[in-house]
Amino acid sequence: MSSSAHSFVSIAQASKEQIEELLRRSAYFEQHPNSELLKGRVVATLFFEPSTRTRLSFETAVNRLGGRVIGFSDASTSSTSKGETLNDTIKMVANYADLIVMRHYLEGAAQWASEVTDVPIVNAGDGANQHPSQTMLDLYSILKTQGRLEGLTITMVGDLKYGRTVHSLLQAMKFFRPKFRFVASRELAMPEEYLRFCRENGIEYEEHTEFSPEVIAESDIIYMTRVQRERFADPLEYEKVKDLYTLRKSMLGVAKPNLKILHPLPRVNEIDRDVDSCPEAYYFEQARNGVFARQAIITDALGIEIPDTKH
Ligand code: NCD
Repeated sequence: MSSSAHSFVSIAQASKEQIEELLRRSAYFEQHPNSELLKGRVVATLFFEPSTRTRLSFETAVNRLGGRVIGFSDASTSSTSKGETLNDTIKMVANYADLIVMRHYLEGAAQWASEVTDVPIVNAGDGANQHPSQTMLDLYSILKTQGRLEGLTITMVGDLKYGRTVHSLLQAMKFFRPKFRFVASRELAMPEEYLRFCRENGIEYEEHTEFSPEVIAESDIIYMTRVQRERFADPLEYEKVKDLYTLRKSMLGVAKPNLKILHPLPRVNEIDRDVDSCPEAYYFEQARNGVFARQAIITDALGIEIPDTKH
């Protein structure tokens, strides 16, 4: 990727080379988690929506790179609660920090922020739209567990309508000839714009309403998702769909030996706890990979060369 500073707001704007460079960097940071590459730099983390893993792994990434973190994890404690606009908040924080990591409930917020400041913006999730840093840790997890990204059958299950993690992952996979299986109720089906994206990019997909043994048997990756309660206007609609798909250990008998189960977490009821001890369960390691992927993203966004990205 270019050595100058730049924002990272959407995976759809990334080239295959950029994605591969970030994966090489992730592997480097897994081997060399602690360094002084960010010495003297300040990173702001602005979270206008709840988060555990994303914020803490970004902050761990900065700390392990020798940088410093400022920010807030709850916008109600910031001047947003006094009526400050996002525009003003971003312009102010840009005075204090070398890079801004932000999560916002409005789709397009990170893109918009990147247009009002020269300080690089890293999107940590914008509404139901994008979650590109999650995608990088998902790709890194897939690569680590499968030994490749090319030609895999990836089954996405649950809330495919509002889930930003599946939207970003789907877009990033266009470089790697995936086959997708989308398992969702009609209410939470993959939106037409993403189905069209698949067709335009020659990506094979099937839509299913049933999480059947046939679908499990052909999967290399099963990507479970939480029903995104906070995006529902009507709580009764959420109640109707919240528990439609639960993956249990008893369903894994038909799985291929290389199957891995991913989930961006937090989980509610989508994965029974009896799956946690199965060899297919990979979601906790996946979250650990988030630190390395975010070290990769931060150093790259700041145009910081790392000693050796080839190993
Ligand atoms: C995801 C998110 O925020 O979109 N969580 C995460 O960042 N690991 C998924 C979710 O909240 O369900």
